[in-house]
Amino acid sequence: MRNKIVAGNWKMNTTPVEGVALVSEVLDAVKDMELNHKKVVFGVPAVSITSVASIIGDIANVHVASQNISSYDSGAYTGEISATMLEASGATMAIIGHSERREYFGESNQVLATKVDKALGRRITPIYCCGEVLEERKNNTFQTVIKTQVEEGLFHLSMEEMAKVVIAYEPVWAIGTGETASPEQAQEVHAFIRSLVSAKYGNEVADNLSILYGGSMKPSNASELISMVDIDGGLVGGASLNASDFVEIIKAM
Ligand code: PGA
Repeated sequence: MRNKIVAGNWKMNTTPVEGVALVSEVLDAVKDMELNHKKVVFGVPAVSITSVASIIGDIANVHVASQNISSYDSGAYTGEISATMLEASGATMAIIGHSERREYFGESNQVLATKVDKALGRRITPIYCCGEVLEERKNNTFQTVIKTQVEEGLFHLSMEEMAKVVIAYEPVWAIGTGETASPEQAQEVHAFIRSLVSAKYGNEVADNLSILYGGSMKPSNASELISMVDIDGGLVGGASLNASDFVEIIKAM
């Protein structure tokens, strides 16, 4: 049975003190929830990883994720944070290849493939993001775009490595816009991604792969999206900054 996952992506929001308060509020509200085969993830700014990890402590199925990871191991790379450092700070997952990293920081599929390797080289689960821009949706090239992102970012992995990856499908036109892909539109892409993984790695790896939807997920649309057969949870931006909204989304999985 594959895991359902609701992951918050705080982006460049919250100080460490605010972050601890937000996580505490969320954890307090979900503490009695049964999290078997369900994971709650907080994708926090790097400066908050240590303090958020200490609040989480050893609560099962709750994780702290970084929002990026260096493609280098160590050395003269000013401003970079390595997988080793993230792991030592308490991160057990990393969001890799978010569309904002691709667009504003020029991260290519090739660089992202290296970042995935660095995460897997430590005990960090990559949440690898893919998704098309509006024009690619409109001109019907979105499947090709997603296929290339998935193949170039992930398909160098061994079967054992691929079995550790989480994928997030985030149509760029739905991120932060209030516009959400319909459950049917998202389901179509999720099933497509699973079929790509199945063709390359076999049914078992594909069946166990968690594929999250991201793009204006909120309490009012989360259950409908997550009820689709191939949608295994969400990568939640704006709504993860509000404790009660995020809790409602967690409860919808
Ligand atoms: P959003 O962001 O929920 O604010 O649309 C999602 C994301 O960028 O991961």
